[in-house]
Amino acid sequence: MPALAGHWWEGRLRIIAGPTSTALSRRVAELLHLRIVDVVQKTFPDGESYVRLAAPVGGDEAMIIQTLSRPQDTSIIQLLQIISAAKRYGATKVIAVVPYFAYARQDKSFLEGEAVTCMLLSNLIEVAGAQSFLTVEAHSCDSMSYFTIPTKNIGAAPIISEKLREMGLEGASVIAPDQGALERTRSLANFLCGESFSVKKQRDRVTGKVTVTESDFDVSGKNVVIFDDIISTGGTVIETIKAVRKQNPARLVVACVHALLVGDAFERILEAGAERIVSTDTLPSKADTVSVAPLIAEELSRSA
Ligand code: R5P
Repeated sequence: MPALAGHWWEGRLRIIAGPTSTALSRRVAELLHLRIVDVVQKTFPDGESYVRLAAPVGGDEAMIIQTLSRPQDTSIIQLLQIISAAKRYGATKVIAVVPYFAYARQDKSFLEGEAVTCMLLSNLIEVAGAQSFLTVEAHSCDSMSYFTIPTKNIGAAPIISEKLREMGLEGASVIAPDQGALERTRSLANFLCGESFSVKKQRDRVTGKVTVTESDFDVSGKNVVIFDDIISTGGTVIETIKAVRKQNPARLVVACVHALLVGDAFERILEAGAERIVSTDTLPSKADTVSVAPLIAEELSRSA
């Protein structure tokens, strides 16, 4: 994306670099020629989080970039603290940019007695003082539905498809690891000029165990990309790899937007037969990452 120097809002808008997104904040700030406000962060001996804005934001619009990486609960309290501080010290508008929106999978009650934590988190972000919210590839429409402030959910398919094309995967078949991911998979397949399919996944709500029960497509001899929004333990993707490999695809690559990759998930996915794992930089990871900075910068320049 071209640099936007000289834009009328240059000088009014500040990027506040949340502790979990310092590198990404810098990339966005460079693209938009904006100044960064750093955040001083520490943890008290008893475990409480502390933040302080390292420069004034009074009279400015503040765009806080803070992804909700692990440990998510600490990232969340820091986000709320930064929003609240920006508001308290006179920011005229506070935009919360949360590249990975944790807890989005808890967007409804699946079992009686559960909290809808995604709703709670949306409420907290608003109460803290955010006036708009921007994220990348939210888990579901429901997960965005609890906000009453304006929201934007940026799709990551354009940048992921660029990377996959560089890897020679134009025309690849894109497989969704469950039917809920079909729309996202179709979008990536459109950018790659390939077809999209889905396996059927069942997850035991108590144990978390994933079973892939069926696949009614034929990808033998074809290049395949398995695409999911989140890879956490890797269980979903590994079961999908097993189902797809029965058909002897030519190449098999895994792509996701948010690579949590808990424990040895990265290694286990490669051992299961994936050639590579492609992800974005919404979270730090061992995967081959493509940056969402241009997407965020472009959205910001459009809405500023
Ligand atoms: C679930 O609906 C998500 O889209 C992912 O499929 C899921 O979070 C992946 O989790 P795991 O890697 O632990 O199977």
